[in-house]
Amino acid sequence: MMATAFALKKPQIKTELPGPKARSIIEADSQFVNPAYPRPAFKLVAQRAAGVWVEDVDGNLFLDCNAGVAVCSTGHCHPEVVAAIQEQAAQLIHMCGTDFYYRQMPELAEKLDEIVPVARPTKTHFANSGTEAVETALKLAMHATGREKFIAFFGSFHGRTLGSLSLTSSKIAQRIGFKRQALDVVHVPYPNDYRNPFSAEDCGDGGAAQGALNWIENRLFKTTTPAEEVAAIVIEPVQGEGGYVPSPKGFLSGLRRICDEHGILLIVDEVQSGMGRTGKMFASDHYDLKADIVCIAKGIASGLPLGACVSRADLMDWKPGAHASTFGGNPVAIAAALKTIELLERELVANSAEVGAYLKSGLEKLKDKHNCIGDVRGPGLMLGVEFVTDRSSKQPDPELRDRVEMASFERGLILLGAGPNSIRWSPPLILNRENVDVALEIFDDAIAASIQ
Ligand SMILES: Cc1ncc(COP(=O)(O)O)c(C=O)c1O
Repeated sequence: MMATAFALKKPQIKTELPGPKARSIIEADSQFVNPAYPRPAFKLVAQRAAGVWVEDVDGNLFLDCNAGVAVCSTGHCHPEVVAAIQEQAAQLIHMCGTDFYYRQMPELAEKLDEIVPVARPTKTHFANSGTEAVETALKLAMHATGREKFIAFFGSFHGRTLGSLSLTSSKIAQRIGFKRQALDVVHVPYPNDYRNPFSAEDCGDGGAAQGALNWIENRLFKTTTPAEEVAAIVIEPVQGEGGYVPSPKGFLSGLRRICDEHGILLIVDEVQSGMGRTGKMFASDHYDLKADIVCIAKGIASGLPLGACVSRADLMDWKPGAHASTFGGNPVAIAAALKTIELLERELVANSAEVGAYLKSGLEKLKDKHNCIGDVRGPGLMLGVEFVTDRSSKQPDPELRDRVEMASFERGLILLGAGPNSIRWSPPLILNRENVDVALEIFDDAIAASIQ
């Protein structure tokens, strides 16, 4: 069925959405599954997928420009990844790296040592998710510095477990009901170039980047947050859930300087922006940034659960028992990761840069056409499109964004919102120009149909 559908190279919607089979699964889900999953208004019930195509349970075929929220970096069920998983699953599925050894752990840790934006030598802790990678980084920073304050940014998303939740600040729904935050975190406005949150006085002649740096040095360090008590600054080099907002020039190097001057660690969260998504292996590489600790997950294993916290080796001098995970670094997930990295290095990071630039120029043309697109931004295949009532007022239009998301879905294009009023483009990194042309045509039509 997929093979025939593939030949079309276009989405194909045959039923109402959601279709009859999808509706019964959604009903069962609403009865038995955690209702806190932040699912969008459109309802996709996936059955199978290959490459950039997803087929739902009713036989509708979608072009996927979300990749399971920036996870399926090599596309759905890449044949080489599937083969690597199958081969490993037939040999050793689990052994528990906390108590025993197997070759895959040092193999991937050595590969990460080669590619991560952290000064070598490094050591890696293996986890199962992004939030666990972040938890590891937070514990490690406290352990290594003997300090316990953190600085994070408004609009950030670092996970939903209690430690990472103390950093996360992209939506109130993530916080409400959970009382005071578990960790001592102070938040700084994120230097969004399109919506500079700082006054002219804060910025001097350095724009939003300087505004944020001045905020930390001139306000926090002189009032609530003594620099010598700060364990780490935690930053996404491109804010993900907050709206796909890249760091402005000069900001990350400024954070690096502040950290170096005060013995503060720089934790870079590359969970969403890493593994080729931005057209380089890591978003930090665009800024020549070296972190002390980097957090990775999502795209690292093409869909198998794997997180990694990679740190300067000298920081990771904690003793046995300080931190470990039963499933983290499972051999099957690592086999998928090693194959994923091989594919990324062979061709997909380059494809992300090339096809990303092509997609971005197409989105910029749509911006010229539609006054409701306020901003098109981002590197590689991590692109944000921000919707506004009109470009001169820049007034956010979250309802329009939601309508565009829904209209795209109804036309067979999977896109997801990010931030209050943006759409994120985070397709599989195998996306080609022909896919882009199809996606842009649908997006254009969806916008036209959504403007009231
Ligand atoms: C930047 C960033 N950090 C951390 C996380 C948390 O990852 P997970 O959902 O795997 O716990 C996410 C998830 O979206 C993320 O985008």
